[in-house]
Amino acid sequence: MGQEVKFNVNDGVAVITINNPPVNALNAAVRQGLVTAFDDAEANDDVKAIVMFAEGRTFPAGADITEFGKPTVDPWLPDVCNRVEATCKPVVAAVHGTVLGGGFELALAAHYRIADPMTTFGLPEVTLGILPGAGGTQRVPRICGAEAALDLMIAKAPISAAKAVDLGLIDGVSRAHVRDAALDFAHELIGKPNALRPTRERTEGLSDPVGYARAVAAKRQALAGNPLFAPAKIVDCVEAAMLLPFEGGLAFEQAAFEDCLRSDQSAALRHVFFAERKATKAPEVARAKPRPVEIVGIVGGGTMGSGIAASFLDAGFGVVLVDRDQPMLDTALARIESVFDKAVRKGSITAQMLDERMARLTGDIHYFAVSEADLVIECVIEDMSVKEQVFATLDAVIKPGAILATNTSYLDINTLAAGVAHPENVLGLHFFSPAHVMRLVEVVVGEATEADVVATGFTLAKKLGKIPVRSGVADGFIGNSILAAYRTAADFMLEDGASPYQVDATMRAFGFPMGPYQVLDLAGLDISWARRKRLKSTRDPEMRYIAIGDKMCQKGWLGQKAGRGYYTYADGSRLGVEDPEVLGLIAAERERKGITPRAFGPEEILYRCLSAMVNEGANLVLNKIAQRPSDIDVAMIHGYGFPRWRGGPMKAAELSGLLSLRNQLREFAKEDKFWTPSPLFDEVIKAGHGFDTLNAV
Ligand code: 3HC
Repeated sequence: MGQEVKFNVNDGVAVITINNPPVNALNAAVRQGLVTAFDDAEANDDVKAIVMFAEGRTFPAGADITEFGKPTVDPWLPDVCNRVEATCKPVVAAVHGTVLGGGFELALAAHYRIADPMTTFGLPEVTLGILPGAGGTQRVPRICGAEAALDLMIAKAPISAAKAVDLGLIDGVSRAHVRDAALDFAHELIGKPNALRPTRERTEGLSDPVGYARAVAAKRQALAGNPLFAPAKIVDCVEAAMLLPFEGGLAFEQAAFEDCLRSDQSAALRHVFFAERKATKAPEVARAKPRPVEIVGIVGGGTMGSGIAASFLDAGFGVVLVDRDQPMLDTALARIESVFDKAVRKGSITAQMLDERMARLTGDIHYFAVSEADLVIECVIEDMSVKEQVFATLDAVIKPGAILATNTSYLDINTLAAGVAHPENVLGLHFFSPAHVMRLVEVVVGEATEADVVATGFTLAKKLGKIPVRSGVADGFIGNSILAAYRTAADFMLEDGASPYQVDATMRAFGFPMGPYQVLDLAGLDISWARRKRLKSTRDPEMRYIAIGDKMCQKGWLGQKAGRGYYTYADGSRLGVEDPEVLGLIAAERERKGITPRAFGPEEILYRCLSAMVNEGANLVLNKIAQRPSDIDVAMIHGYGFPRWRGGPMKAAELSGLLSLRNQLREFAKEDKFWTPSPLFDEVIKAGHGFDTLNAV
C-alpha cells in the first residue's frame, strides 16, 4: 500500500486513513490504496468494523480533476465505492472539511457517516460540466428523494452538516474528534444484527413515486432553454434511480458521465477551475511577503469608490473615505450604506453586521485623513492630470511604506508612479463595476513596483473574495484591451452592413449577458470616445478608423445616462429600444465612405468578434502584459460576462482549432491590418500542444 492510504487496527476496528494533500483528491494511488485496504480489512479476522477517515484539512474533496481527459487508470472511483459498500463488515465514514463530489460519494458508499459539525457537503460536479459519476445520482435520491437530490446536484451550493443530518445523508455530528466519534460508533455496531446498511438497499427516498416523478418533471421544465449539458443529464440520472434497479441506474449514470466528460463544455469548465487558481499565482507572490494592511484609504466615493469601500468593509478592513466636499462625501457614505441595506433585505447579512461594517467606515474631506492608512486607492475621474494631482497630494500625507494604488481602467501607471517619491509603492488595482459584486481585480504592475507591493495586491484581492489577474502596463491593461479589439471588430461590421442590434443579439445568444453596444450604452459612450481621443496621436494611419461612435457622442447620444445611445431609454428606463435614427447615422456614414452594405449572419458576427478578442489576447501574452492565456479567460469571464461554460476566449479558440483561426485571420488581414494574426499563433501551432505550455507558467 502506498503512502496515500494507511491502515491500522484499533481494538477490533480498522482505521483506513487517506492522506493526499492538499484536499485528499481521489487520484489513482488513493483509489488503489482504498481497495487494498478494504481487502486487507475484510481478510483480517481481528477486524470487526471499519472507519474511513482522512488526514489534513478535509475528507476527499472529490475525484482528482487533473486526471479527467487523460487515459483512465483502474480502479475507477465507482468501482471503489461499490467495493466499500459491499464490505461484509460495517463501514463508518468519519468526515470533516469540504466533503465534495467523489469524496461525498465515497462517504455515501459507507454504511454510516459521522461528521464534524463544521463539515460542508456538496456535489458540485455540474460546475465542471459533469455529474456525480461514482454512484451519487443513484445513492443520494435513495436516501432523500428526488427534489433534495436535484437541488444538491444542480443548485451547486454546499449544505451544512446540520442540513445533511436533516436529509438523512449523515447519521450524526460530533464535537469530539470525528475519528474518535466514528470509532465509538463502530464499536457499538460490532455484533449488532443488521449492522450492515448498504445505501443501494435504502428506499426512504423512493417511497413516494408520484412526488418523485413530479420533482423530476419540475426540474426538467425549469431547465428548459438552459444551454448547459450536464444539468439535464443529472435529471435523467435521478429519474433513472426510480425507474431502474441500482446496477442499471449505475450503468445509466456512467454513460451519462462519460458523455459529459467528453463534451467541450466540460473541457471548458475544467479549464476555468484551474485557470482561476493559476491566476492567483505570480512570480512576485512566490518570492515576496505581502505588506500588512488593516486600514484602507479610498479617495473618491463615486460608484467605483463606494463599491470598493463596501468590498473592503465586507472583508473586515477599516476604511477611510475621502471626497471633495461634504455633500459629495455624504452621498458616498449613503451609497455605501445602501449597499449593505440591500444585503440586509436580501438576508445575506444581518442589521447588526451592517452596523458593525459602518462602524469601521470613516469619511473626511481632507486628504490627511488617510495618513494612517496602509493602502490608499484613488478612484477619481479617469483624467491623467486629475489623478496626478491626487497622487501628489496623497504623496505628502501618507505614512512611510504605505501603498498607493490607482483604480484607473486605462491610464499609464508608470506616469503616475513617476510623480511620487516612492514609485516602488505604486500599483494598479483595477476593480470592475459594481465593485462589491464583480470578482475580477486586475493587479497592474508598473516598471518600478516592488514585489511585496504586488504580493500585497494579490493577497488583498483574495481576502476580498476576488480573483486577481496580473497585468503589465498597457492602455486598458488586459480586459479593456480585449474589449477595445472586440468593439473594433463589431464597429467594422456596423460600417459594412450589420446593425448594432444584430451584433448584440448574436453575442447574447452566445452567452454574454449583454451585447457590446448595450454595454457601451451602460458605461457611457464618452469613455471610449475619450480613449480614442487620447490615442489619436499614436493611431496607425493605415488602420481603418470607424467614426460612428464619435458622431454619436458629438450629438450627445452618450448612452443610458443621456436617455439615448445605440438604444433609446424612455423615462429613465434601463431597457433600451432600437433607434431608427442610429441606423440612419450608420447608413449616412457608410454612404460618406462609399461602402455598399452587405449582409452579416450570426455565425460571421460571432466569429469576427471572438477572433478579434483572441488575437488581441495572444498579443497581450506575447508582449508579456498577460502572464498566460488562461489569465485572459479568467479576466473575460469575471470582468466582462464571457460565458464561463465556453471557457473564455482563449480556451474557446483552442477548442475550435488555432490553426484554422490563424488561417482565417490571415484572410481577414487582407481587408485590414487590424486582423494581422499575432505571431504567438505560429509559435503555439509549431509547438503542437495548444496553450498548455503557456498556461503552465
Ligand atoms: N482535484 C485536483 N486538484 C484539486 C481538487 C480536485 N478535486 N480540488 C482542489 N484541488 C487543488 C487546487 O487546484 C489547488 O491546487 P494548487 O494549490 O496547485 O492551485 C489546491 O487543490 C487547493 O485548492 P483551492 O486553492 O481551491 O483551495 P480552497 O481551500 O480555496 O478550496 C476546495 C478547497 C473547496 C476543496 C476547492 O478546491 C474545490 O472546490 N475543489 C473542487 C471540488 C470539486 O469540484 N469536487 C468534485 C470533483 S469531480 C468528481 O468528484 C467526479 C466524481 O463524481 C466522479
